[in-house]
Amino acid sequence: MFLKSLSRVNWASSLRGVSTTAARAGGGGPGNFIHRDTPQNNEETPFTFNDENKSRVEAIMSIYPEGHKRAAVIPLLDLAQRQNNGWLPIAAMHHVAEVIGMPRMRVYEVATFYTMFNRNPVGKYHVQVCTTTPCWLRGSDEIVAKCKENMGVNVGGTSKDNMFTLSEVECLGACVNAPMVQINDNYYEDLTEKDMDEILNDLKQGKNPPKGPRSGRYAAEPFGKLTSLSEEPKGPGFGCRADL
Ligand code: FES
Repeated sequence: MFLKSLSRVNWASSLRGVSTTAARAGGGGPGNFIHRDTPQNNEETPFTFNDENKSRVEAIMSIYPEGHKRAAVIPLLDLAQRQNNGWLPIAAMHHVAEVIGMPRMRVYEVATFYTMFNRNPVGKYHVQVCTTTPCWLRGSDEIVAKCKENMGVNVGGTSKDNMFTLSEVECLGACVNAPMVQINDNYYEDLTEKDMDEILNDLKQGKNPPKGPRSGRYAAEPFGKLTSLSEEPKGPGFGCRADL
């Protein structure tokens, strides 16, 4: 049984105070924090790495020196999740524990901590909306509301056609391009509600919506003129004493 108890707010609420923890589908991804056996997720569910991934496992393990192979736990869990349509059953965790010689509990601790691991099935597109403070200040509540409306699900839910799963997550490290979402392996940034609608509609139609900033920015540069690093670099030795 997994142990993870953090205070949560009501997922149904789209408004929250700035000091409130984001309602997340959770360390361990969509679903609650306690493992409960289901027909598709129990100790007996068969899971082993396929032949292609066995080679990848060997390559990953070779990076780590003897005595430190357990450090491969995150890449191996990620590999297992990718092999298993984007989610990580308990049997896969057990297999990873066996491959790297780590107690199962240690693997549970990793898998339940990081939102990148989904411990229950997810839709074809896993939409993770960042609702940490910079994104929240820039309108992530509206982005979450638009996602709910477009997908017809609440946070933590999967659409009936299995196309989308919606999660709230903590900072994804793209605060300068807030608000932003991660969909599978891609970031969509500088979002408005209209952008969010367009992205989801494009995905529904099998299109490939442009990734990155939607504001016209190339990356995270200022919207106007440069506000720093605006002069030519001074070169080596600048500011040093002449006798050095
Ligand atoms: S706060 Fe949203 S990416 Fe950092």
